[in-house]
Amino acid sequence: MATPADQLRPVTALFADITGSTGLGERLAPDEVKALIGECVTRMSRAVEEFGGTVQAYQGDGICAYCGVPIAHEDDPQRAARSAFRILDLMAEYGREAAAAWGVEDLSVRIGINGGRMGVGQVGAGDPQTVALGDATNVAARLQAAAQPGTIVVGEETARRLAGQFVVEPLGPVTVKGREQPVEAWTLLAPMSGEAEAATSRLAGRTTELEHLTTALDRLTEGRGQVVLIVGEAGMGKTRLLVEARRTVGSRVTWLAGHSASYGGQAPFGPFVEILRAWLGSPEGESSIAARTRLRARLGAEHPDRLPALGRLLGIRLDDDAEAELAGLSPVDLSDRLRSAYVEWVAGLARRDPVVLALEDVSWIDAASAQLAGDLLALTDHRPLGLLLTMRPDVGTGGWSLRSRAIGEYSHRLTNIELEPLSPQASAELAIELVPAGGLDPDTLRTLVEVSEGNPLYLEQLLARLQEMGGLEHHQTWTLTVPRSVLPPALEGLLVARLDALPPEPRAVAEAAAVIGRVFGRPVLERVTTGDLDAGLEYLLRARIIEERGRYPEPSYAFRAGLLHEAALSTLTDARRAQLHQAVAAAYEDLAADRVDDHLEELAHHYARAHDLRKALEYLERGARRASELGASDEAGRLWLRALRTANKLGDEAAIERIRSTMSAVVPEPAGPDPGEPGT
Ligand SMILES: Nc1ncnc2c1ncn2[C@@H]1O[C@H](COP(=O)(O)OP(=O)(O)OP(=O)(O)O)[C@@H](O)[C@H]1O
Ligand SMILES: [Mg+2]
Repeated sequence: MATPADQLRPVTALFADITGSTGLGERLAPDEVKALIGECVTRMSRAVEEFGGTVQAYQGDGICAYCGVPIAHEDDPQRAARSAFRILDLMAEYGREAAAAWGVEDLSVRIGINGGRMGVGQVGAGDPQTVALGDATNVAARLQAAAQPGTIVVGEETARRLAGQFVVEPLGPVTVKGREQPVEAWTLLAPMSGEAEAATSRLAGRTTELEHLTTALDRLTEGRGQVVLIVGEAGMGKTRLLVEARRTVGSRVTWLAGHSASYGGQAPFGPFVEILRAWLGSPEGESSIAARTRLRARLGAEHPDRLPALGRLLGIRLDDDAEAELAGLSPVDLSDRLRSAYVEWVAGLARRDPVVLALEDVSWIDAASAQLAGDLLALTDHRPLGLLLTMRPDVGTGGWSLRSRAIGEYSHRLTNIELEPLSPQASAELAIELVPAGGLDPDTLRTLVEVSEGNPLYLEQLLARLQEMGGLEHHQTWTLTVPRSVLPPALEGLLVARLDALPPEPRAVAEAAAVIGRVFGRPVLERVTTGDLDAGLEYLLRARIIEERGRYPEPSYAFRAGLLHEAALSTLTDARRAQLHQAVAAAYEDLAADRVDDHLEELAHHYARAHDLRKALEYLERGARRASELGASDEAGRLWLRALRTANKLGDEAAIERIRSTMSAVVPEPAGPDPGEPGT
């Protein structure tokens, strides 16, 4: 296994230093100076971490930070640049506060950024730290020293990477200690409008679709509720359209997003719990005491009456009175109560600012969530709420009924976007954008456009595959060197080919991740992989197989496409798959000690696939009980039925008896056909 010390890879270093602080000692008491500088450093560090960078050291009045350690991103220079602008903003704001509080007038910051290949490894014995070392760091420090207060100076390579997205201006040569030749430096003036956030390729085509979407969002910001449906085949760009729209509306709306999991192993209200948790800033594995405190702090004072229901959704036990009250309700009343508390919460949020609820992949939405989504449709008549739903055109799914309802009853607020294949012209634009500089040979371009049939995901993955296998060569332009007949004709085949071609370590990481799900958190992944996880993740990020999903409260990632997730699963042998499911289940039990309730369905799913029927039975029963606690009777009935089948397979008479008697009490009608899963 490669030790981290072996790595020599691209890293971007950022140095930021406070200016105007030297005279402070004369004017302020020592503890005041300490508080003031400490606050500056904290804010600067937060700005860096917000963009995924890490602060390596605090030196005097400044920080030294890296983008690309421990994990590299395709857009590290952009991240460093954005952090730098954030630092300038935060310091300008703090400068005003400091002027008012202490009469300190000239507080400012200067920043130097430089990228290059650095040796990345661990130093320190007790609590080893990952550090990046190299000449590029030295240059970054010198650029910082050369910067005027309130400005950002970048080195040559970084300037080249940022041009096009940021306005840069040559500053001329800067002398660097220990170097004979001065280095060229640039001043980073501003992000170019709209492009600053772009981490991906430029949007190709889709002008009309984006226009429809932004028109709907404009209406929303004027105070009118909106319903938006985005329907398209896998990889057509549904999620991408949401990303673009979100960038456009910026902070004018509160944007909350949740998704439905494709294997159906999601607890009732899954996407809505995800949204509530994100709003509270409550990590999944957080202890219930901490989660309860958050809930009370953010909702308690205004609306104590909603606490028990929202707490129940999060799986948090509140006080005995509240529990007793909920326990007395019939399943239908309980479900009503939970949903109305949620709707009131959203309505409350929308009183301050317009709210977007983006529900992704609703094709697979669970029954309880579908009902709540229906209630929220009704709220769009009364509040500036935008309900944005993405789905594949799969007739007969829960999402499809939701769509029919939106079309039937809410046509007055509806924007219906159907993503057709990209036009040949837009496909060509995207293809050119995705190859390295140098242009594409016309015949090659024509072939790429034809085989990809207007699917941007196909095009993106095909080009990545060709670059990996050396199927494109640069003469005067990039030219296809393999016959067209070897290009996988279908998206699925292409994706499997890409996964098959991965080196062993990243491939093992991809497979373990796939077993966790399309979206996976690092803590669980860490428990089920061996070897250098960072290196594996980095490879997959660079290969555009996965993307970073979030950093707080824990790093999480997602397969860039549902089909990539499926492809990764399909490359696993049965035995390996069962073994991984077992390990993932054990990891969840281990991580979520007092929060297992959040993962009951997942645990049942993993154990069933690990052929551990005993454990599967245990979690199916617990999941069924939890579904009843959420008033989700259909879900509960379905889970009891699966539990019964599992008990039958095990030949466990006691369990069969126990489940039968519970079922006759809670499920009056025989439950309908179970769409469920194999193995149970
Ligand atoms: N118009 C476009 N221009 C450039 N890139 C695009 C465009 N549309 C999509 N892409 C890229 O193609 C890939 C697939 O898009 P996206 O993830 O949005 O598909 P999706 O419809 O949400 O798929 P799924 O059904 O699997 O969720 C992404 O990397 C995205 O950035
Ligand atoms: Mg998507």
